[in-house]
Amino acid sequence: GAPRDLAGRHVVVSAGGTREAIDPVRFIGNRSSGLQGYALARTAVARGARVTVVAANVALPDPAGAAVVRVESAEHMRAAVLDAARDADAVVMAAAVADFRPVAASDVKIKKTGGEPEPIRLAKNPDILAELCDRRRDGLKPSPEVIAGFAAETHDVLANGRAKLERKGCDLLVVNQVGDGLAFGTPDNAAVILVAGGDPVEVPRGPKESLADALWTLVSARLSHPA
Ligand code: C5P
Repeated sequence: GAPRDLAGRHVVVSAGGTREAIDPVRFIGNRSSGLQGYALARTAVARGARVTVVAANVALPDPAGAAVVRVESAEHMRAAVLDAARDADAVVMAAAVADFRPVAASDVKIKKTGGEPEPIRLAKNPDILAELCDRRRDGLKPSPEVIAGFAAETHDVLANGRAKLERKGCDLLVVNQVGDGLAFGTPDNAAVILVAGGDPVEVPRGPKESLADALWTLVSARLSHPA
């Protein structure tokens, strides 16, 4: 059976991909399925944690034993993650959060009649992972003991990942190369987990549960003991 090394812990996992409304029927979205986040939730439950999943637009059965909070946009996700993280020991941001959103969603469906389309003006979304790390650095609540992120990179995977870990100030960053049939929407993943102040851990191609377990082992090692 699984190690019970997360017994007595509350962990928060974000999963899926945010949708940023353009009008009542359209959105800017991404290809995240939520499979990796839900694998993280299931494996954390198996290791004894109380688990809150903040799920953005995930079309999968709820992970058994986890509390699921459903959100749509990055701003919804920010509110839900900050709320769930108030008493969390660890937060893992596995969701694909849109970097930008339309400045204002149209109240009415945008019509194709009327000549040239208006450009969609974008505004920056809050970076939830960076905000959590900043709050912890500044001694503000919530201050989870361990904060982990994911980064999908298409090139210079390790260098870009290391720069991102340092820029955001998180403890662990799972870096995957996207493309070549891995990551989005597939049951398998392969990654390198970057560790603040430590050596990277390579996780060979395998089921998303294997990557999840490798991450929880690193999270668990960074939690102060006892729970
Ligand atoms: O900066 P980038 O989007 O590549 O970083 C990915 C990591 O940051 C993921 O863990 C993602 O969940 C998190 N993120 C976030 N808020 C954003 C953008 C990304 O929490 N607005």
